[in-house]
Amino acid sequence: MIMYVLGIDTSCDETSASVIKGSTILSNVMPSQIEFHSRYGGVVPSLAKLAHQQRIDGVVDLAIRRSGIGKKDIDLIAVTVGPGLAIALEVGIKKAKELSKELKKPVIGVNHMEGHLFSGFLEPKTSFQTNFDFKFPSLGVLCSGGHSEFVSVSGVGEYKKIGETLDDACGECFDKCARIIGLGYPGGKVLSKFADINRINVEIKFLNKNNSKYVLLKNRLGREYLLPIPMATSGDFNLSFSGLKTAFASLVQSLGVLTREDIYDLCVVFETSAIQQIIFKLDLILQKYSFKEMWLGGGVFANNYLNSEVRKIAKKYSMAIKKPYKKSLTGDNAAMIAFAGLVNHSILQKTHNLDQIDRIPSLEIDEFL
Ligand code: KG4
Ligand code: ZN
Repeated sequence: MIMYVLGIDTSCDETSASVIKGSTILSNVMPSQIEFHSRYGGVVPSLAKLAHQQRIDGVVDLAIRRSGIGKKDIDLIAVTVGPGLAIALEVGIKKAKELSKELKKPVIGVNHMEGHLFSGFLEPKTSFQTNFDFKFPSLGVLCSGGHSEFVSVSGVGEYKKIGETLDDACGECFDKCARIIGLGYPGGKVLSKFADINRINVEIKFLNKNNSKYVLLKNRLGREYLLPIPMATSGDFNLSFSGLKTAFASLVQSLGVLTREDIYDLCVVFETSAIQQIIFKLDLILQKYSFKEMWLGGGVFANNYLNSEVRKIAKKYSMAIKKPYKKSLTGDNAAMIAFAGLVNHSILQKTHNLDQIDRIPSLEIDEFL
């Protein structure tokens, strides 16, 4: 029986390795490369590759050492094959193949988004489970820096996208708008922190005008800020964030030199529009389909406002929520890759030949590996 799984993720700007036992995380090393990319205002693929190459051996060794098991105890190696940056993915895949040959252990290629999908089932060291209690059908809500999608999950490996962004991802939009108001890179997290601090000081109203929806923020001085909620009247389950970025840029431009108060208010009005778009579509989906649970994953689920609004929707439809037990597991990490690998191996009896494993940069959640 498979017990210990080593996971490796080098899909973007984190060189991460983890060892899990069942759904329990024994170690999860995830050094970020932010300091390499921040001066360029985004992830630079060639720099990401270089940093992965410099770190991968040390990160894998550290993950094994911290787990308390020996290298030889590893039963399965799970590695992200996509989606992600091609030249970054290659580094993790090469390492997984080398280890597989050295330890004579099987490898499984994992879809990074399937990792996010199952991230809510990971547990801290105090518990240990091998019988996974997955309820089907469930709805995956995945919001990250590269993806924003609603996924109907009718079994392990049985995924169907029922809605997704038509352009930018939600996290990407947070980062771009944060940059417009000078919050640096990646600024999504900072923007949401400012919004959290200021939300209690302002009044928010939702307006319907010319068949479109808007968020209107009024601050204590009576000053108003208006942004659209894109796609709110499209009638389908898709999302769009690039129009919000453009509307945000024009709003910022119309204000001239920004005061400190402007920045705090802009954070709230932006966050409200971006998150309410997701909530509005979630509500539409749950009116139409019935799911047992909502599985939440991706870096944007570190956002407090998103979490509190999703909780309200879950309550409205009496649904249970599965989400990462701590914020650091919402973003990219190798524990979720190890777990998705374990689930696929134990339930679908999947492993891959070494020559079958290659990078698939634009892999979709509903493509079977
Ligand atoms: O899942 P993730 O770590 O990487 C991808 O697979 O893309 O997600 C990273 C994204 C970034 O765009 C980041 O700005 C966003 O998640 N993010 C947030 C927050 N924390 C991270 N977005 C909104 N609010 C936050 N608190
Ligand atoms: Zn991710």
